[in-house]
Amino acid sequence: MEQVLWSTGACALSLLFCALALALMLLTGKRQSHLPPGPKGLPMVGSLHRLGSRPHEALAALAETHGSLMTLQLGFMTTVVVSSSEMAKEVLQKNDLVFGGRTVIEVLKMRSYPEGSLVWAQTGPRWRALRRICTTQLFTPQRLDSLQALRCQKVHEMVELIRQAEPAVDIGRAAFVTSMNIISNMIFSADMVNPNSGSAQEFRDVVWAIMEVAGAPNLADYFPMLKALDPQGLKGRCNKLFGRLHQFLNVKIDERLQSRERGGVDRGDFIDAILDSKQENGVDFSRSEILALLTVRHYPRLCYAENEKDLFVAGSDTSSTTVEWAMAELLRNPDKMAMANMELSRILGGPEHIMEELDISRLPYLQSVVKETWRFHPPVPLLIPHRADATVNVAGYIVPKHTQVLINYWAIGRDPKVWDNPTAFLPERFLGCNVDYKGKDFQFIPFGAGRRICPGLPLGVRMVHLILASLLHYFDWGLPDGMKAEEMDMRDKFGVTLQKLVPLRVIPVQSS
Ligand code: HEM
Repeated sequence: MEQVLWSTGACALSLLFCALALALMLLTGKRQSHLPPGPKGLPMVGSLHRLGSRPHEALAALAETHGSLMTLQLGFMTTVVVSSSEMAKEVLQKNDLVFGGRTVIEVLKMRSYPEGSLVWAQTGPRWRALRRICTTQLFTPQRLDSLQALRCQKVHEMVELIRQAEPAVDIGRAAFVTSMNIISNMIFSADMVNPNSGSAQEFRDVVWAIMEVAGAPNLADYFPMLKALDPQGLKGRCNKLFGRLHQFLNVKIDERLQSRERGGVDRGDFIDAILDSKQENGVDFSRSEILALLTVRHYPRLCYAENEKDLFVAGSDTSSTTVEWAMAELLRNPDKMAMANMELSRILGGPEHIMEELDISRLPYLQSVVKETWRFHPPVPLLIPHRADATVNVAGYIVPKHTQVLINYWAIGRDPKVWDNPTAFLPERFLGCNVDYKGKDFQFIPFGAGRRICPGLPLGVRMVHLILASLLHYFDWGLPDGMKAEEMDMRDKFGVTLQKLVPLRVIPVQSS
């Protein structure tokens, strides 16, 4: 992180920084008297250098000294970090209205992407309208039910590919391709990862490149005087990429409009849902709002992550990351794997039974495995950063307007005050217990909570359970090269999602 920061023309700007350092010290010294406590930072950089490449862990360690509501100065950005379920409740429930804002990263502030996506829109009429269509049109139980066959088909394609695979399967990659294709088919009825389709390939390349650029650490986010310079050229690149993405989606929208005019069939995907709602409810979405809805994905703000060229080879979406960690934990804990397998064969029988989504409700142990994975290996460990839209009193401290707020859910999920034996993978802890991920239990918020809670939750939940259950139902799994469970590398790596540092490669055996 430090290398990335300092390698990018920082030397040339050092004089300017020195002049501003004094101002910053005066400013932060003054502010910190009312803010929650926190570490003393260096001039200019504040505590940026302390985050390293594993900010979730670094922040958890700092919170042990400074408390569960802690202030950090990151460059010129004042940040409050929340590290306990009580404080998460204060922020995401008691003060939900105030903390609903987002700090929009520099690369996304551009003409072709005017805070366009749901993830980055500030709370206001536009954000509300975008969320409403998500909850009333795109992710409703009816629409999700109607697309059940599509999800099952994509999962069966994955199973077929695994059957033909070389000895070892990269689980994250298999789950990534499946979840990406489920989502792209839901949006515009085509596979996103399909070597035979040129346009799908183009779409994938652009989406991946955007995630890479938006995920790179950008000096301009921390040092406002660099904004106009765009010293790393990230904003310029992002602008071009969004131009290409929107061009691609515009073609899809135009094609669909023409097909509808000719009386073509309604495919029931998101493009049709948005155009239907325009027709039926008179909701007049502008083209840019339609584009914002069609890019309803996480564009994570990863100011701390290292810029990795191979990011997407390993797979990087929330659902596939969950599946990979769940499989890794089951292989590492053979007794838990045996429990999951026993439940599957007792309830569903052998692999001749074709797995369906309806089966999942009859598999409580499998559901507990997924929950425990979301506690122990949260795909979005710091949630997506929030912002205070007004100055507010939290637990006796004053958090000024425009302060960035990070919720360290990774630390909350391992808090020994809340969880017994927090560093052990114990799905049983969720059996017969009401703790749920829907944003009411603040010790367990893998999808966030409050007004910004993940709108894709119902889809994510269905995809993860179906993919994991199918992997276990159709195959038995073994580690390659005689590796023992206790030799598995379980380290994580902070990136677009919290992935396994070493991708999980395992050997499938047809289950009997
Ligand atoms: C395992 C699956 C998933 C997990 C763990 C997850 C987690 C999260 C988290 C932690 C947030 C941030 C909440 C906050 O700011 O406090 C979020 C936001 C969001 N997620 Fe997800 N997500 C998942 C799947 C999905 C899917 C499948 C979609 C859409 C296809 C999606 C779309 C979004 C959007 C649009 C937001 C921003 C909402 C807003 O800012 O108003 N997510 N998600």
